[in-house]
Amino acid sequence: MRILVTGGAGFIGSNFTRMALKLNPGWKVTVLDKLTYAGRRENLVEVEKDPRFRFFHGDICDSDAVSLAMKDCDAVVNFAAETHVDRSIHDSSSFVRTDIEGVRVLLEAFREGGRRMFLQISTDEVYGSVEHGRSGEADRLDPRSPYAASKAGGELLAMSYFSTYGVPVVVTRASNNYGPFQYPEKLVPLFVTNAMDGEPLPLYGDGLNSRDWLFVDDHCRALLRVLEDSAPGKVYNIGAGQEHSNREVTDLILEIAGASRELVRYIEDRPGHDRRYALDVSLLEEELGWTAEIPFRQGLERTVAWYRDNRGWWETIKSGEFREYYRSMYAGRLEGSVGER
Ligand code: NAD
Ligand code: TYD
Repeated sequence: MRILVTGGAGFIGSNFTRMALKLNPGWKVTVLDKLTYAGRRENLVEVEKDPRFRFFHGDICDSDAVSLAMKDCDAVVNFAAETHVDRSIHDSSSFVRTDIEGVRVLLEAFREGGRRMFLQISTDEVYGSVEHGRSGEADRLDPRSPYAASKAGGELLAMSYFSTYGVPVVVTRASNNYGPFQYPEKLVPLFVTNAMDGEPLPLYGDGLNSRDWLFVDDHCRALLRVLEDSAPGKVYNIGAGQEHSNREVTDLILEIAGASRELVRYIEDRPGHDRRYALDVSLLEEELGWTAEIPFRQGLERTVAWYRDNRGWWETIKSGEFREYYRSMYAGRLEGSVGER
């Protein structure tokens, strides 16, 4: 099988590419990635010399680049996306372009080939904020940020190609991932690296918003199961059932990293901040026999150890484009912040 992994130079895509090649000696993987601020060739250095791996630098909105990369591929796993909620609030244009129009371009190229599966990587954020219970795959979609709305548009468009043209689409909706190679704009890597540098940890609002945390390896294993055995037209939630408030996540990071609680700052909240995400994953467990294996503390310990051992990776990022991003997002809010509650 030859798989096209779009967005394979990003966080989850690079972890998936490494795992797919390691566990499947007969597979070949092509990565197509635009190398935006979030994508890095060095994330793929471990597989760079593998003869089963090839890399194309290109945009999923560019039909010529897509046709070239998709040639001879049996399956597509579409990770390519703009992914950060805070950036989508600031400017949603690239989100609509990549997360919806990019999916359309991929689907059009995919239609021509008589291929096996188009796996659209979506998110639990399409359900919106869930105050009680857990979201099931048949629940109403209620995306509340430009990021979540763009991802909902992308997955609905993909499913429409299944209904209309019989394209073998499968959609997965994963909860918040954490682990090695995550760009330090997201909560876990931002707080881990700030803690290591003795910088403030800026918690939004009251810090009691909660997420269902999934170690990236567990996510990638679930995707491999879906690729192997899922029927077209299916939607699967992927989550580990490990709900923690942002305060709890922060406390655990500080403990594991051995940093002071005085670094915690409560700052002005994100607009429209979803209070809680939680997934019912019984469909994936029952149909495909997958369960999450990595407990949150263990996953976080592995993550902290990786950032400790790979300081050069994140210091390079944090001294580039990120510096201006961080200043514009946080400097004003940190001025009016308060410490530990
Ligand atoms: P990321 O931001 O780390 O990586 C995204 C990758 O896509 C980057 O390599 C980037 O260069 C590439 N890309 C962006 N626009 C592109 C374009 N137009 N053409 C080609 N490549 C492009 O993201 P991630 O956290 O690895 O997320 C991967 C996927 O998983 C996304 O679709 C995201 O919505 C989904 N997801 C993420 C999480 C999470 O917690 N990180 C949870 C659920 C679902
Ligand atoms: P994030 O990693 O941006 O993922 P998402 O918004 O897609 O769930 O944020 C996770 C949670 O952490 C979310 O409730 C927002 C919160 N958060 C902070 O409190 N401070 C921060 O600096 C960041 C980036 C996030």
